[in-house]
Amino acid sequence: MNPRRVASLAFALAFLIPLQASADPAASPRVEALISKMTLEEKAGQLTMNTTFPPQESNYRDIRDAIRAGAVGSVYNVHNVNQAREMQDIAVKESRLKIPLLMAHDILHGFRTIFPIALGQAASWDFDAIRRAERVAAEETTADGINMTLAPMFDISHDARWGRVVEGAGESVWLASRIAEARIKGFQGDSLSNKTSLLACVKHIGANGAVIGGREYTAADVSQRAMRQEFLPPFKAALDAGARCFMAGLNAPDGLPTIANPWLLKDVMRGEWGFKGIVMSDFDGVKALVEHGLVRDGDRIETARIAFQAGAGLDMQSNDFFRAIPKLVREGVIAEKDVDDAVRRILVVKEEMGLFETPHHGLEPGRTKTPPPTKEALAVAQELAEKSVVLLKNSGSDAQAGGKILPLSPDVKKVALVGPLADNADDVVGAWSARSVLSEVVTLKKGLEQRLPNAKVVTTPGGRTHDARDEEIAAAVETARDAEVVVLALGEAFADTGEAQARANLDLPGRQMELARKVLALGKPTIVIVMAGRPLVLTELDQISPALIYAWQPGTMTGPAIARLLMGDVEPLGRLPMTFPRSLGQVPLSHDYRPTGRPYLDPMEGFRAGYGDTSIKPLYAFGYGKTYTKLSYGAPQLDRKVMRAGETAKVKVDVSNDSMRAGTAMVQIYVGIRVARVSQPLKQLRGFKRVKLDPYTTQTVELEVKADDFAYWDVDGQRIMAPGPIDVMAGFDAEDVKTATLEFRP
Ligand code: BGC
Repeated sequence: MNPRRVASLAFALAFLIPLQASADPAASPRVEALISKMTLEEKAGQLTMNTTFPPQESNYRDIRDAIRAGAVGSVYNVHNVNQAREMQDIAVKESRLKIPLLMAHDILHGFRTIFPIALGQAASWDFDAIRRAERVAAEETTADGINMTLAPMFDISHDARWGRVVEGAGESVWLASRIAEARIKGFQGDSLSNKTSLLACVKHIGANGAVIGGREYTAADVSQRAMRQEFLPPFKAALDAGARCFMAGLNAPDGLPTIANPWLLKDVMRGEWGFKGIVMSDFDGVKALVEHGLVRDGDRIETARIAFQAGAGLDMQSNDFFRAIPKLVREGVIAEKDVDDAVRRILVVKEEMGLFETPHHGLEPGRTKTPPPTKEALAVAQELAEKSVVLLKNSGSDAQAGGKILPLSPDVKKVALVGPLADNADDVVGAWSARSVLSEVVTLKKGLEQRLPNAKVVTTPGGRTHDARDEEIAAAVETARDAEVVVLALGEAFADTGEAQARANLDLPGRQMELARKVLALGKPTIVIVMAGRPLVLTELDQISPALIYAWQPGTMTGPAIARLLMGDVEPLGRLPMTFPRSLGQVPLSHDYRPTGRPYLDPMEGFRAGYGDTSIKPLYAFGYGKTYTKLSYGAPQLDRKVMRAGETAKVKVDVSNDSMRAGTAMVQIYVGIRVARVSQPLKQLRGFKRVKLDPYTTQTVELEVKADDFAYWDVDGQRIMAPGPIDVMAGFDAEDVKTATLEFRP
């Protein structure tokens, strides 16, 4: 039949068949024509994503043969430009239906230009800088022929032991939701069809961060109410910002692996949210239903049936959909129409990206290699690295009695740079560093040398992150003894965080504390810089260091960013996106905990929700971060005592700069719903505002709270706003706030 007639017939049919139409993407003649021509095997192939790694299973074909046969519609782990070109060429020239591939990679914090780890970026609280970083990442990635990222990641977690906190936006659903909007806009640009737009697959929907004991892949029992209130909001925000793909978590909150959870994948996502895009499994997530204990060993038909019927539409890696779906249709277990719907969702995204017309997307003919970062890309990386650094402590020292150590004097002549992160490119790029090239990373040593051309910077690492010899430590101490100022660079190795990198101990690894004690015992003006992928327990370091900085893993522009911050060329703007514990036993820990029937009292009293041997208070609260100025904030003043549904209240806070240095104040706003049908957190972040202050000036900062900020989820799945008193808190961080109260009468 003439292809044009097939297309128009299919188009007409699509309107005649109302079933599930509301949950499906708008049909297009091209897509309908393709679906009408596809064999069941080709349909199952479109629902299959495979890695380009060498085959692991004996029945697994070479990826190129699979593409040629239409057995694979998407690939990931695309290693280089030539591979991207070759695979897409096979798909669009040699496969029967010439359907282009989705080609994916995990782009978590940059492609060639490496930005700070995602958690570090979250510490910037700078959504525009994050958006611009993702734009750079998208431009670099698409120019290599990759059109999809298995990112961003928004697994809310309160557990610093979990290695994947490195990939997320921290513990606050509000902050993570704003970052979700920024990342989606950055990756996808104005329109998916632009050649520099990268299809984002937001992960890992469910409650993937609700791990037990910090261990990867585990899951606490998470109720549907908690899922909606504490885990899903960033995913919904990403959807509203234009996300077309979600990846289900590998774990099983509430006992049900997310890929097998029809309540989430169908009722909530398709039904309530009206999501029309792709829901994919994580790596082997379909097959893992066997390991989870939902399916008898070896029954790789049943795994596919459960996941498909639960609402999954793309199987990463297990090949169970490919194996099972044709058979399940032929046996009448699943309807071919449902398979068509899943295929349609994928083809519509491919079409929207313009892949049928321009299959190589951003990959220009003639390109064979990934070029080094551009000047513009490096500028964005440096800006974001500067903005993510959090100043934890800045006191005086014996050498500078009464003064603050930071910023350093421009006249400094001799700096000792010690510690395993001093001249280390490997670890500062962090986990998931895509196409990073270590020789392009500007280490702290290089950065300090460039920034202080007239000073002598003597570098002695004193060992590696995980081990050191006695003589290495001794040499570093000698270098420090001889200097005017000491910069002590400590931290984690890149492999200490990331997938399956849980730690049961949140101290600095190896002998680094030993090195720190010895160096700090010299009593020199010392700035301790910690570069790590998660919050660590810094209680002792906080006590013995005169100045302490948390720089996360800052990426390609580590050196210049930190050097500029030390010298005061830029002020510290970072604020913690996760609560830092004072002791390991406090974890999991977050600012938005619920009160209990015997709420904690400070100081602790008997029969209260605290510890016998320590406070429940963190070492550094969520939102904490110092500046180089002396700031004070007044109490919040509300423009009304009573608020109704749909209204927005203005909150005014006076902020003063009581120092001779200009600087930026950042007022954070938290709300606490005091009376509710379900016990609510005492405080949850709901916004913030920055304002620049000249020396010795005061300004009134105006923020808002909306009635919607007081909504919460009831146990029966209703989002409600109930009458009652609301605490509106404003201040420096989640602990250091002042409170005003209003009466909510929706
Ligand atoms: C991870 C995903 C990742 C995938 C592919 C999985 O093990 O959980 O986040 O996208 O591997 O690299």
